[in-house]
Amino acid sequence: MFSPETYTARRAELKKRLGSGIVIFLGNSNVGMNYHDNEYDFRQDSTFLYFFGLSHDGLNAVIDIDNDRDIIFGDELTIDSIVWTGNLPTLHDLAAKAGVKDVRPSAELKSYLDKARTAAAPIHYIPYYRVEHDLRLMDYLDVRPGGAVPSLPLIKAVVDMRSHKSPEEIAEIEKACAVTAEMHKAAIRAARPGVTEYQMKAIVEEVATSHGMRCSFPTIATVHGEILHNHSYNNVLESGKLFLLDAGAETAMGYAGDMSSTCPVDMHYTDRQKAIYDLQQAASKAAIEMLRPGVPFLDVHMQASRTIASGLKDLGIMKGNVDDAVRAGAHAMFFPTGLGHMMGLDVHDMENYGEVWVGYDGKPKSTVFGFKSLRLARPLEEGFVFTIEPGIYFMPELTGLWKSQGLHKEFINYDEAEKWLGFGGVRNEEDYLVTSDGHRRLGPGIPMTTEAVEALKAEA
Ligand code: GLY
Repeated sequence: MFSPETYTARRAELKKRLGSGIVIFLGNSNVGMNYHDNEYDFRQDSTFLYFFGLSHDGLNAVIDIDNDRDIIFGDELTIDSIVWTGNLPTLHDLAAKAGVKDVRPSAELKSYLDKARTAAAPIHYIPYYRVEHDLRLMDYLDVRPGGAVPSLPLIKAVVDMRSHKSPEEIAEIEKACAVTAEMHKAAIRAARPGVTEYQMKAIVEEVATSHGMRCSFPTIATVHGEILHNHSYNNVLESGKLFLLDAGAETAMGYAGDMSSTCPVDMHYTDRQKAIYDLQQAASKAAIEMLRPGVPFLDVHMQASRTIASGLKDLGIMKGNVDDAVRAGAHAMFFPTGLGHMMGLDVHDMENYGEVWVGYDGKPKSTVFGFKSLRLARPLEEGFVFTIEPGIYFMPELTGLWKSQGLHKEFINYDEAEKWLGFGGVRNEEDYLVTSDGHRRLGPGIPMTTEAVEALKAEA
């Protein structure tokens, strides 16, 4: 955890911004996989982590702004739990680490909130994402399931605070990125014909575990890089194919790294693989050069899109005017995702607050295919941390559908595009911080040229 002063200062800042009312923070609970005591790995709610830092099951908290109280609600371990799981510090000791002196039994939370509601204090809470949260809000606030309305002033305040990473948060993200880079290097070294995707997943995740970290999201380890979030691992790596890894580590405090790499299964890229890899990297570089305060991330996304469309035109896969093609969204057949997303305590940072607040500063989002997947569009500010992950994908289903609809046929040379089906996809991804006058990559980086990837493979 950071020092108690960090959490106290964050709560003080939130009180100042909101002015009055009660803020409820629901911590996460352990969830049984197939019966109660056989639990999924516990992951604390990130908003709770940001303001209270404690990664323990069964805690909730309240900031009572009008009475200037920060209270953690939870229950001390019973002897039965101690027999089962071993002893832990008392709740008072844990709360002290978060700078909180006021600790009360869980059973008192509802009556505390009942009193606040009688006094007509505004009640603030964020949008939650687990059924257990809905059920607890239903109980605490006497609303129907799904009937709780999150507080917009709270969302805006917390998005603003969490979007601007402090130096100690950046140092923590750097740690996650350093281990994330090792995960990718291990994969590049290990990718060989005959290895299974499951084995690759194990090799990658062993790196995170051996550093005392966990994965920040389910690993994507696939020979079908064109499937954006492929979570099956049943294929065998075959000569002539690409292997795409999208994986990241998360520190014990909950800060994420998120990188992607695409390497050949063989020792060298083929000419076609190199052409698409180099184009993907040209798009990355064009984007990264633009990163500085004040530049709308939408413009950065558009620049990466134009670079990809222009390169695909050189390869005969796209045609026509590149600017017009990108404005029309034709490039999205090959690059249907956004260029990147905020990253921090969540790999898609604060995604549960709503993309419009996190990535668009409240402005409406496009609903057009390709652009609708852009999670970040707003002007960049110092302290923002996000991924840069343009990709180039050849998707049989999408190509077939668009061709049958004659979609963007003035910009897509379908006969040529069909020759690339079966190629897969290329995505490389790094994590960036916006500084006062530009940007900085976080972590030591991973090989990002075909020569560097091949050299790393040759070392193994
Ligand atoms: N890197 C995985 C994701 O962004 O969802």
